[in-house]
Amino acid sequence: MSIVVTAASGQLGRLTVEALLARGVPASGIVATSRDVTRLKGFVDRGIVVRQADFAEPDSLPAAFEGADKLLLISTTTVDERVGNHRRAIDAAVTAGVSLIAYTSMLRADTSTTDLAATHWATEEYLRERAPSVMLRNGWYLENYTAQLPDVLRAGAIVGAAGEGRISAAIRADYADAAAAVLAGGGHVGKVYELGGDEAFTLAGLATEVSSATGRRIEYTDLAAGEFARVLGQSGVPDALARVLVDTDLAMGRDELFTDSGDLRRLIGRPTTAPAKAIAAALDRRPIA
Ligand SMILES: NC(=O)c1ccc[n+]([C@@H]2O[C@H](COP(=O)([O-])OP(=O)(O)OC[C@H]3O[C@@H](n4cnc5c(N)ncnc54)[C@H](OP(=O)(O)O)[C@@H]3O)[C@@H](O)[C@H]2O)c1
Repeated sequence: MSIVVTAASGQLGRLTVEALLARGVPASGIVATSRDVTRLKGFVDRGIVVRQADFAEPDSLPAAFEGADKLLLISTTTVDERVGNHRRAIDAAVTAGVSLIAYTSMLRADTSTTDLAATHWATEEYLRERAPSVMLRNGWYLENYTAQLPDVLRAGAIVGAAGEGRISAAIRADYADAAAAVLAGGGHVGKVYELGGDEAFTLAGLATEVSSATGRRIEYTDLAAGEFARVLGQSGVPDALARVLVDTDLAMGRDELFTDSGDLRRLIGRPTTAPAKAIAAALDRRPIA
């Protein structure tokens, strides 16, 4: 009996495997999958079972999921292909006889107006009808901002279109630990967790936080959607990604990426990592302890 973590080569997947180990799951009880197993060599060396799985290639999935008890379906990157990919993965996991599929969805996937949420909601509906499941509705990653800090410091500004919207972002490691808690524990079938950081912030608040951490004056500039898209394009962001970022920022302005559910802190059994701590770690280029 084993726990399968898909997309284990990705940032969230790797952290989830580490969190499972930290929670006492033996390496031999974890199956890590990727389209390219050479990316998982480090896991092989530590006794984790590594298998090839590509959701676009359904023939690869029966062997990848064989003997699985629980499966973490990490949402895939390409938005256009996402729902088809997820359906094939769910079908294969059901055929393998899993007792639980945990899916990394998006905060407020049922009511959110974003294009991103539509793909997550379609996956949730498909999954709910076919398997014992739990929805891990992840909020925005804090790293979406901390990774931009060098650019922010160069420009002296954060730009966006989120207005005064509150954002309950959390670091990937906290979302990964929540996933591990669900996979290693019991009693989660049928649950929907709205996951976000304890300390919500506006983008103006984030600018203030970066100012305090650096001693530099960083302003938040709120732009109209078209202007934000133009700025993203000028910075080299591809059109498709720019559309997603504008769409998401507008939704943030409507508090669609805000939650005060407390689900994340309850699942991980501790407060979520504070934005100030994540910013300090990013500025020092060190992992968030
Ligand atoms: N909450 C947020 O702010 C936020 C932001 C960005 C993305 N996301 C979502 O969260 C997911 C995980 O985030 P992350 O940071 O870990 O992303 P990441 O580092 O880019 O990893 C993406 C993973 O998706 C896997 N993948 C892509 N296509 C696949 C396919 N056809 N079959 C199987 N696996 C496939 C990749 O696996 P291989 O290439 O090894 O096969 C990779 O491990 C993303 O994929 C995206 O859906 C959330």
